[in-house]
Amino acid sequence: MTGTRTFTMIKPDAVEDKNIGNILQMITDAGFTIKAMKLRRLSTEQAQEFYAIHSERPFYGELVEYMTSGPIIAAILEKDNAVEDFRTLIGATNPAEAAEGTIRAKYAESIGRNAVHGSDSDENAEIEGNFHFPVAEVVA
Ligand code: CMP
Repeated sequence: MTGTRTFTMIKPDAVEDKNIGNILQMITDAGFTIKAMKLRRLSTEQAQEFYAIHSERPFYGELVEYMTSGPIIAAILEKDNAVEDFRTLIGATNPAEAAEGTIRAKYAESIGRNAVHGSDSDENAEIEGNFHFPVAEVVA
């Protein structure tokens, strides 16, 4: 049975801290199937485009600078109720408010350097997944 999909990034702080393996283990242990995945470094233009929705926010420049500071892992994940279940798994945006045992509680440094991204809706999961992966790179 196929489920719904979400999109995630393991962000530069977590890659630098050598937490890719720990975070992927938590993701697959929670029942998500990886449908596409790559290690990549975003250009400034790519990060600006990906986060265009936040372009008026005071932290936009800092966010783009951080997301281009090192490589990230981008991945499309599948599971029933993927978007909501993944946001539960990662915890609140601010790790100080993230529930115990969540990915951000364990591995995030701060609200800006918060280890992982998770899409906030089915619609954005599709847009964000398409931003990083051509259809041919997503397994059926
Ligand atoms: P994410 O939800 O993955 O995508 C938007 C990001 O903006 C968010 O993670 C945070 O890392 C970042 N962000 C949100 N609020 C703040 C803030 N007040 N200061 C710095 N970064 C922020």
